[in-house]
Amino acid sequence: MVSISRLSCEHYETPLGIHHTRPRLSWRFEGSEVDWKQASYDLEIRYLPLRSNNGDEEGEVERHHIDSAQSVLVPWSGRELVSRDNVQVRVRSNGEDGSSTNWSEITLQVALLSPSDWTARLLGGPASDVDAAHRPILLRKTFPVDRSDSARLYITAHGCYKVFINGHRVGEKALAPGWQSYHHRLLYQTYDVSDLLKKGEENVIGMVLGEGWFATRLNFGGGRRNIWGADLGVLAQLEIGGKTVVQTRADEGWEWAHGPIISSEIYDGEVYDARQVLPDWFEPGSTSGTWSKTVRDVGFPRGKLIAAECPPVRVTQSIRPKEIINTPSGKTILDFGQNLVGWLKVENHPSDLNEGDVIRFLHAEVLEDGELGTRPLRDAKAQVEITVGQEGGLAGYEPSFTFHGFRYAQIEGWKGVSLDDLTAQVVHTDMERTGWFECDHPLINKLWENVNWGLRGNFVSVPTDCPQRDERLGWTGDLQVFAETASFLYDTSSTLGGWLQDLAAEQIEDWEGVVPLVVPNTLGNLFGPPPPSAIWGDVAVLTPKDLYVASGDMDLVAKQYESMKTWMDKGIKRSAKGLWDSKGPQFGDWLDPKAPPDAPQDGRTDNMLVADAWLVHTTEVMAKMAETLGYAEDANRYADDARRLKVEYQQEYITPNGRMMSDTQTALALALHFHLLPEASVEVARDRLDHLVRKAIFQISTGFAGTPIILHALSDNQLLQHAYRMFQEKQYPSILYPVSMGATTIWERWDSMLPDGRINPGEMTSFNHYALGSIASWLHKVVGGLAPLTPGWQDILFKPRPGGSLTSARATHTSPYGEISCAWKLDGRQLEVTVSVPPNCTGRVVLPGVDERIGSGCKTYSVEWEPEAEWPPKSYQLPFGPPKPDVPA
Ligand code: BGC
Repeated sequence: MVSISRLSCEHYETPLGIHHTRPRLSWRFEGSEVDWKQASYDLEIRYLPLRSNNGDEEGEVERHHIDSAQSVLVPWSGRELVSRDNVQVRVRSNGEDGSSTNWSEITLQVALLSPSDWTARLLGGPASDVDAAHRPILLRKTFPVDRSDSARLYITAHGCYKVFINGHRVGEKALAPGWQSYHHRLLYQTYDVSDLLKKGEENVIGMVLGEGWFATRLNFGGGRRNIWGADLGVLAQLEIGGKTVVQTRADEGWEWAHGPIISSEIYDGEVYDARQVLPDWFEPGSTSGTWSKTVRDVGFPRGKLIAAECPPVRVTQSIRPKEIINTPSGKTILDFGQNLVGWLKVENHPSDLNEGDVIRFLHAEVLEDGELGTRPLRDAKAQVEITVGQEGGLAGYEPSFTFHGFRYAQIEGWKGVSLDDLTAQVVHTDMERTGWFECDHPLINKLWENVNWGLRGNFVSVPTDCPQRDERLGWTGDLQVFAETASFLYDTSSTLGGWLQDLAAEQIEDWEGVVPLVVPNTLGNLFGPPPPSAIWGDVAVLTPKDLYVASGDMDLVAKQYESMKTWMDKGIKRSAKGLWDSKGPQFGDWLDPKAPPDAPQDGRTDNMLVADAWLVHTTEVMAKMAETLGYAEDANRYADDARRLKVEYQQEYITPNGRMMSDTQTALALALHFHLLPEASVEVARDRLDHLVRKAIFQISTGFAGTPIILHALSDNQLLQHAYRMFQEKQYPSILYPVSMGATTIWERWDSMLPDGRINPGEMTSFNHYALGSIASWLHKVVGGLAPLTPGWQDILFKPRPGGSLTSARATHTSPYGEISCAWKLDGRQLEVTVSVPPNCTGRVVLPGVDERIGSGCKTYSVEWEPEAEWPPKSYQLPFGPPKPDVPA
């Protein structure tokens, strides 16, 4: 039986507080029915009265029967929705075979769509010292409730907030409202608070307001404070049955006080004085503390208010420490066994300490010489300092508006700390997990897990470069190279979709078409206007394409189209020939392992060759996207450009005999993968790549530009076993080297830690950067054998290519349609492959001797398998000198 396992609306996790008037619906299927296709669906839309809290009441009902095979992002058939609409939707899908699924149901609630829906204003406490950390404040208000209708709280801040009603925390979102380009967009959250209110009694709403990304110190080299302003404020509106009962306004009886948080900063951590806790401050009748009625109207947000579609940042896991380490210098360090992002939570009050004693937590990713390795943090303190208060009071404490990237925490001032006293709370944007991979090679599995951890730690509201040092910024290039991998592993569509809107606004309104290097652009004009840069700026075109391929949502591309075009036509600084102007800086194959530690841009491959290779590719993608959107004229123009630029490229960088100007793996891989070579030179380039890879003894030779490409270039050019051999190499520098050094995340550099256990001397050395994790897309596609043939994965390619020393692998992906998987097992020369296609989808299976189209269901193939080339392939080494090991792991 085919059933609907999930009905969803746009890209919302839960459709409470949507920002759409004609929301598209999607339903995901479950079931292994063979060749099942949807022929039609039945849709029931019930418009519920606003006051309804449980959806049981009768409302006006519309029924539609629609003959269509579409089950993902289907257009809205109901009437146009308005602010506060409350709509119950039921869907049943009917198959071509006459069967029907279950009815699946969701309730959508529209948020506040227009600025005029808001009567609240941003409300703050005292104006604070402009060049210091802002001390968080508490804000509260008492109010009566005389009805028990459904209640909604709409809330956001300039800063970050935590909100409580009658002593209960509202929601579990962390660092809300998240990080946006606040002068363009400000997300607000919607909470159903019906159950927290008490009818006929006095109620209390309380908030903690901290500086968050809005005003905290950001950027390297000392950084800047108050990038979006120094005036913090909360904007909140509590409505019962659609009527506002509480709003943040200066004249409405709000009061403020200081609580125990002295400072809470993104980079530096939190200072907390538990002696200043105001007990029960958010409960009715509380008498603790001195409260001031002088609250300030901080105005109305400049950025457009939008109901958040992306999943929130929240705690997703709690990890107990594995070990207590006593260091050579006598320090106490907890090892959590995993480099993670989040913070420490105090589980037990330190019973051996007295009021006024101070404890400190220092966080770091690695140890060096047995001590906490804090050098890579640069100007980020990443500390929590707590002054102990009343007996028992610290149990449950966790910092509010900060996060750290760490595996180790040094605990100072708490002598008897035990493994039970502290846990690490793992924190990130809680996107839906959609991708899995495993094989019978433990080190490859570990590397793949590290990619996942790198992703989790670097999606903290925005996609960041790293989570620990004085950066944690939305570096565009890092995301661009990693977006495809990320979108296989998690549903990134709303998180990255929103981030791209910020990118477009900053690019077009602030920087005349140039894509900033980081989004939100914290750098501003610090080093002059952002320099246009290939790979980094190409995110404007390539990432909307990646999201479209993963989700099938063409609207995501349509929304970005102006930004894409502006980048191509105005942002890129070109020479007379149309290639990149060689006078500007380029990052090139950033972090090529042979680049000097302090000059990551000085890799082996010419930076302009790298930039122009991506330019040709980006132009081709642009042409395809224009065509998909129906912009024929643009499509032709970009396609012509791409053809012309390719010829320019060949003249500039390829010799008549087919050698590349930079004789490197990255140059050859880009040329082969992006089809930049004239037909006659392909063989030459392939042979040269073969030579260079063997000569390098299969060690990794690529940085940010070459890494996502190199293995595909090999396996697409009859060098599959080279790709496996490179993947299985663990000698420094190599793909598995970090794993062999105990890495639990993907490092910024292939050698962030040197073989002698020392931290790479480069001052830019993180142990949690996702960019090089883009290598995993080869595992999903080539080893696991899964790739979409059409955007959204309705048509799927199953083409696993066993090799290396692997004898089994499995890749699984939850697509918008349902679960897809491909699993293979090799027994001698016998290859058994099982594929699974969700209902309403089709697939193409390509195996030795097999090339067939299939419909939904599960199917197993048994075929004779021949290795594509000898295993292991031989390296080229001189027959003298100390031999380097040449055995794959
Ligand atoms: C970041 C990178 C980024 C690079 C570009 C670094 O400091 O961590 O990942 O892409 O700068 O300059």
